Amino acid sequence: MKLILSFLKKYDIAIYVAYSLTLIELVSELLFPFILGIMINNGIMNENMDEIIKWGMIMFGITIISFTAGMTNSYISAHISVSSAYDIRKKLFAAIQQFTFEQLSKYPTSALVTRFTNDVRQIQNTVFMGLRIMVRAPLMVIGSVIMAFIVNPKISIVFLITVPILIIFLFTVLNIGRKMFVRVQQNVDKVNLVIQENIAGMRVIKAFVRGKNENKRFSEANETLARNTEKAFRFMESSMPVLMFIMNISLVIILYVGHQQIQIGTTSVGDVVAIVNYALRTVMAISMFTFLTLAFARATSSAERIAPILEEKVDKPILKHDYTVKHGAITFDQVNFTYPNDTVNVLQHVSFHIKPGETVAILGSTGAGKTTLFQLIPKLYTPTSGEIFLDDQPLHMYDTTNLRTQIGYVPQSPLLFTGTIRDNISFGKADMSGTMLIKAAKDAQIHDTITSFQHGYDTVVGQKGVNLSGGQKQRISIARALLLQPKILMLDDATSALDTKTEHLLLDALRTYECTTLIITQKISTAKQADNILLLDQGKVVDFANHATLLERSAFYQRIVESQAEREISHE
Ligand code: CTP
Ligand code: MG
Repeated sequence: MKLILSFLKKYDIAIYVAYSLTLIELVSELLFPFILGIMINNGIMNENMDEIIKWGMIMFGITIISFTAGMTNSYISAHISVSSAYDIRKKLFAAIQQFTFEQLSKYPTSALVTRFTNDVRQIQNTVFMGLRIMVRAPLMVIGSVIMAFIVNPKISIVFLITVPILIIFLFTVLNIGRKMFVRVQQNVDKVNLVIQENIAGMRVIKAFVRGKNENKRFSEANETLARNTEKAFRFMESSMPVLMFIMNISLVIILYVGHQQIQIGTTSVGDVVAIVNYALRTVMAISMFTFLTLAFARATSSAERIAPILEEKVDKPILKHDYTVKHGAITFDQVNFTYPNDTVNVLQHVSFHIKPGETVAILGSTGAGKTTLFQLIPKLYTPTSGEIFLDDQPLHMYDTTNLRTQIGYVPQSPLLFTGTIRDNISFGKADMSGTMLIKAAKDAQIHDTITSFQHGYDTVVGQKGVNLSGGQKQRISIARALLLQPKILMLDDATSALDTKTEHLLLDALRTYECTTLIITQKISTAKQADNILLLDQGKVVDFANHATLLERSAFYQRIVESQAEREISHE
């Protein structure tokens, strides 16, 4: 609620204007039945044409005023609601961009997508309805009752009975309905989750022929959603006949009492018509208001889900110095790491020192913690304990954005964005000239492949780069990282899809860059070419030395070498 109001603050003038127009609209609407009554009494009942025309013209004028005010109000309300929705989306997007991996892992992608779409739309609709109805409906009820009493108090006593009954009835309905809609919203989240997981993992699902199970999972979620939505709407709908019943009864009473009074001459036909009109307006206003409250409840729960995202603490260290990485030395000192919401110690007492400009291979079996170790360096995650230093400065002293522009990170599963190859390579640095771009591509051993495409660097890669092979995507990611001219280059298994010859060429080209290079690999042939090898097993550093030394002193290393040699022999 506070959230919605905070986004509306900047539109306060527009909101005042909208509400002033509402008042004009309201007064016109309330005058209308009154004048209708006069017209019937003075004109129609007396067959006086002049009176009919006179009051007819007045009614016409009022209608025009009310119509204009209503239209303008609609226009302004639409503007306010759409603009505030735009603001909320913008702020959300900015907030998520600032998220650390830890924060991201708290919100599944599907939940974030629902925040942007469904939740923001809910708020937008409610803001619109609120501006149109919130003030008008209650005032309309009060105004109608007062006007009816002015016209004829005896008949209007009916209002004192029906209005409270209606209000109590509708609010009871609403209370139950709201709970139902909260459940519907949870079902929507569930369906989105299944859809999102499936689209993201379509290939895996197909590869493992999991389609049937996934279909079942989706059907279940989808059916629950449909069933609960239907229940909620049916419940709300079923209140309508009851509403009509109450309304009709009160109309019958008004007409009956009115008829008797007309006969004894204490009231006139015009007055009865006016009161009937006020009764209809009252019922309409009350039901409009209940639906608004329902929308309000949904918008509040939407706002409650958006608020935590906006309130997430943004990692902004108080920097005394704006450190930049000058040499590229990396030191880990007793680093421990556990993933958020987990208990397993993925990295345990990891300590090592890498000199500036060194090329270090990180070798270890799957699940050893290699990727995890990488992610700590650009501050994607923070160590649970221990300290990381870059050039003798603790990592937390570096400004995150600044730091990341100095680190070329090629993740394990390269992600390309929709756009041209050129866009994808220059992604990290849009202002790079063409020659730099081509040099980066050449060094990444992808230039020849790109030029062999019909459109060369302007070849469009589809969503997630579907029309490129895994190895091609890896090399484009490498080119992207090289273009940054990073002080620290990190390749996470990025050479796994390359043949030995291309890999050799790539590693040779990397040597011409003045940077510290970390290469995660599972291949001895790759590790051999590095200055040093960090052996990692089950989150612990086993050894740290060059190939020759390790071959001599590390039984662990010897085992890997032997097993890979055997495999090569058996392949031949
Ligand atoms: N892990 C986790 N939560 C994550 C990522 C990983 O709990 N978000 C755990 C994994 O279950 C694994 C350990 O952390 O046991 C190490 O994962 P990782 O660093 O990704 O292992 P790698 O050595 O990179 O493995 P691979 O060679 O398969 O990439
Ligand atoms: Mg990994």
